[in-house]
Amino acid sequence: MSRSAHPAGPRHADVLPEGHYSAPPADLNTLDPKVWAQTVTRTEDGSVSVGGIGVARLAEEFGTPAYFVDEADFRARARAWRTAFGHDADVFYAGKAFLSRAIVRWLYEEGLNLDVCSGGELTTALSAGMPADRIAFHGNNKSTDEITQAIEAGVGRIVLDSFQEIVRVAHIAQSLGTRQRVQIRVTVGVEAHTHEFIATAHEDQKFGIALADGQAAEAVRRALALDGLELIGIHSHIGSQIFDMAGFEVAARRVVALLAAVRDEHGVELPEIDLGGGLGIAYTSDDDPREPHEIAKALGEIVTRECEAARLRTPRISVEPGRAIVGPTAFTLYEVGTIKPLDGLRTYVSVDGGMSDNIRTALYDAEYSVALVSRTSDAEPMLVRVVGKHCESGDIVVKDAFLPSDLAPGDLIAVPATGAYCRSMASNYNHALRPPVVAVQDGEARVIVRRETEEDLLRLDVG
Ligand code: LLP
Repeated sequence: MSRSAHPAGPRHADVLPEGHYSAPPADLNTLDPKVWAQTVTRTEDGSVSVGGIGVARLAEEFGTPAYFVDEADFRARARAWRTAFGHDADVFYAGKAFLSRAIVRWLYEEGLNLDVCSGGELTTALSAGMPADRIAFHGNNKSTDEITQAIEAGVGRIVLDSFQEIVRVAHIAQSLGTRQRVQIRVTVGVEAHTHEFIATAHEDQKFGIALADGQAAEAVRRALALDGLELIGIHSHIGSQIFDMAGFEVAARRVVALLAAVRDEHGVELPEIDLGGGLGIAYTSDDDPREPHEIAKALGEIVTRECEAARLRTPRISVEPGRAIVGPTAFTLYEVGTIKPLDGLRTYVSVDGGMSDNIRTALYDAEYSVALVSRTSDAEPMLVRVVGKHCESGDIVVKDAFLPSDLAPGDLIAVPATGAYCRSMASNYNHALRPPVVAVQDGEARVIVRRETEEDLLRLDVG
């Protein structure tokens, strides 16, 4: 569609309404490596490729919308975490970010462990061959069936989240004639957001057992007294999309203080601590994430220092990154449909997906980037809002971004950094068919989760 085809004319960067954006980038054709997967590049014909395959071919073969995962990038990031933490620590990938059997196999091959938080995630992990002793089982309301399934499978640890669960897990383990390795999840009184952390408010939430008021110490007391449990450590997860290490440092200090208190009271030195996940990634060029080696160094130093001060043996550390491993490795490919310029505001660009494949913008006001990937363009930037095809106005994929003003229906656009919490939180709203996940590497593309079909929908609807 040419510019003149927009009745009101596209909105350019000259006068901009309020929004969460910086000035348009100097060149809309440039792909910022911070937000795109490693092998994503513009080829000579101006289109974009991943793993050596152009997006036009990917769209033709797999349709749109679809998620494309850069397998080499995923493996490299998993390996970077593994290497950064070394052999004295464990990295548990948080499966809630995105889990499939191929992902489980990549994790296994790269030496990572896996954190699951439901019977479904556990079944996926086991069916892809992840050894049970490398799996941690989480959740604030695990069912009796889930606990039984986890213990029977022989999971390496169950992370206990409440006083009732301490008793329930001990009882089920004992009735199965075993002793289950467990950690206790504590809330350390640190609330971590993207850029700040706020002390104290954090006990007011459903996860964990508060350190404050001696609750966590009481949980340790009860767990140590039960034959069905082998208490191996303390767990803390402070939040998500965090860039600042200060919250982790406070958490580590408070967890180590609990270990010291446990040693003083029971004469037992718990051998492990888990500091959870939550490390931030770049969704836009404004985000500056930490590298795994910086995170490993910062956490290692603080734990060692605190343990020396408390004269404790340094426990084995584990972490649970989800988003930081899978998030940057994938993008969602959409075809542009209707384009609606709203004079004085912005141009609404509709795509063939929406909040059913990325709920994060509607749910968390999350920010994303977007680029025209089927060709280059020298047209002026126009301010756009990328929206989906669902029946509500909150169906926004990218709230504020710039795309070239000659954008036309049929163009392919891609939203980077959608590897985490997009497919895993996808829905069938409006009976949308959830998109496939396609792994791309070295010129080969392979479906790892297929697109849903109308038969899938009808199979569940038993009439
Ligand atoms: N460990 C525990 C105990 C967790 O609860 C979580 C995330 C993680 C690890 C992994 O966090 P990550 O490294 O991926 O940030 N749906 C939200 C994120 C919810 C995270 C819940 N727990 C989103 O789309 O941002």
